[in-house]
Amino acid sequence: ETGAITLDEGFVNTGSTQSAITFLDGEQGILRYRGYPIEALAENCDFVEVCYLLLHGELPNEEQITAFRNDLRQHTMLHEDMRKFYDGFQHDAHPMAILSSVIHALSTFYADSLDVRNPSDVHRCSMRLLAKAPTIAAYAYKKSIGQPYMHPDNTLNYCENFLQMMFSVPAEKYEIDEVAAAALNLLLIVHADHEQNCSTSTVRMVGSSDANLFASISAGVAALSGPLHGGANEACVSMLERIREDGGDVDKYVKMAKDKTAGFRLMGFGHRVYKSFDPRAKIIKKACHDLLNRGHIDDPIFDIALRLEEVALTDPYFVERKLYPNVDFYSGVIYRALGIPVEMFTVLFAIGRMPGWIAHWQEMRESPGKRIYRPRQVYTGPVERSFVPIEKR
Ligand code: SDX
Repeated sequence: ETGAITLDEGFVNTGSTQSAITFLDGEQGILRYRGYPIEALAENCDFVEVCYLLLHGELPNEEQITAFRNDLRQHTMLHEDMRKFYDGFQHDAHPMAILSSVIHALSTFYADSLDVRNPSDVHRCSMRLLAKAPTIAAYAYKKSIGQPYMHPDNTLNYCENFLQMMFSVPAEKYEIDEVAAAALNLLLIVHADHEQNCSTSTVRMVGSSDANLFASISAGVAALSGPLHGGANEACVSMLERIREDGGDVDKYVKMAKDKTAGFRLMGFGHRVYKSFDPRAKIIKKACHDLLNRGHIDDPIFDIALRLEEVALTDPYFVERKLYPNVDFYSGVIYRALGIPVEMFTVLFAIGRMPGWIAHWQEMRESPGKRIYRPRQVYTGPVERSFVPIEKR
């Protein structure tokens, strides 16, 4: 410590704010949105209901959820001029870069309703983000495979609509698969919020400068793209594929993960807060087994994931460090079963996290103690020096 400043690299022990949105207990492996256990919400809700809960603090009644769904339906389409942004991206541009760019570009289309102090502007921008995120994401996928963009179909529910925008082509409509839509619904719910994680703290940080909602969320998408955060689901499946191609030798990779010089980590393992099983990993693992038993998954990497978990959970290195599978460990197995390409996995994470980001941004704006986030540092550079003119350097 130097003076009043306490150094806390990575904010391991720093509470950056007070929040009433999500409760985590890392020791017990508890996750609740607005007091409701994630298990109950995953079992009984659809994702749009959970969006309402996170934004408004209460589960909606019939009238409220009907109005909310209708509100969202008004905003699912993208302005036709926004398609031009996609022409500028390389065909193999990462869809997270596209998502972050296009979300920020929304602020150029709605410049008349960006007032962060105007509740109706904030409401409309919030609805636009929730409604357009799947459209923006599906367009990014269609761009990458050279297929025409599919318009939203407002006769479908949130998840069905996303799947049809992803997989329909003008010549052949996507046949709605209820099981796939239900699996996607579950995944979006378990990703919907997670208190002050890296990307949510970023959204609050950027929003604290009075930057508009689109700019703040765009920054959150950028933070989520990192492989230590949301990018871990994509990295985890690549790791499981690598193990499969390498003969399925999980012991070799667990050994590598313990060797600091190898520069290799088991992606989808470990968590800053959960020092026991991530409750979301439990829910997703169970969903994998359900889909497997119903013949919807026949994926060798699921067996590898199960074996990897078994070996790691009995290995002292992981046990001592309380490293367990996290939300990203099994999610990729389901995304693959849904036919989602691996580069879109983190985009699905972002679509799920959208209500959480918005709820935190709004809570930060409304907090009585709201101030711009401006942490200090412990300076370790040179003491004062006299200037040296260039001829003397
Ligand atoms: C998400 O914060 C959130 O809530 C995030 C999230 C959300 O919903 O928003 O839950 C989503 O991001 C989940 C995490 C996804 N990331 C990964 O799966 C990447 C792999 N995991 C790690 O890199 C790591 O566990 C983190 C990033 C998740 C947590 O990092 P910490 O808390 O800073 O822990 P650390 O890097 O200090 O590791 C502690 C020890 C170290 O060993 P020692 O120095 O004590 O000897 O555990 C080791 C690490 O080397 N370790 C691992 C490991 N994770 C940590 N060793 C091997 N494999 C791993 N995966």
